[in-house]
Amino acid sequence: MSIDPEALLSAALSAAKYAYSPYSQFCVGAAVETASGRVFMGCNVENASYGLTICAERVAIFNAISQGDSKVVAVAISSEGAAYPCGACRQVLSEFGPEMQVILGDSDGQFSERLSLKDLLPKAFGPDFKKE
Ligand code: THU
Repeated sequence: MSIDPEALLSAALSAAKYAYSPYSQFCVGAAVETASGRVFMGCNVENASYGLTICAERVAIFNAISQGDSKVVAVAISSEGAAYPCGACRQVLSEFGPEMQVILGDSDGQFSERLSLKDLLPKAFGPDFKKE
């Protein structure tokens, strides 16, 4: 199944509506597509204890994993300025799809860029290093 970047970005934009970001005012929405063709969404969820904040990308991917779908082929992210995912999210995304496509869009869902996660996280540490 081939990825539809516009459709995935539109799902990310819808997820951004639920962003809980009263401290940063920075709303992020993410949508991951799995190898089985399912789409899971997430938004950033902040906390008064700032360090407990979780990014939209990790909410989306944990949503997929917790519903039994763990091979991710693409992630779309919608935020102001079409920001790149943070380092922590790159690492977590890589665990479940090192070859995944990353689709970036702004806070209106306007497409900005498509690239491979490998470009954002070259020479990643991953599960293979743990095999005997
Ligand atoms: N944020 C994300 O949701 N994803 C990222 O990749 C970068 C940052 C969120 C965390 C926080 O709620 C807000 O954006 C500002 O950092």
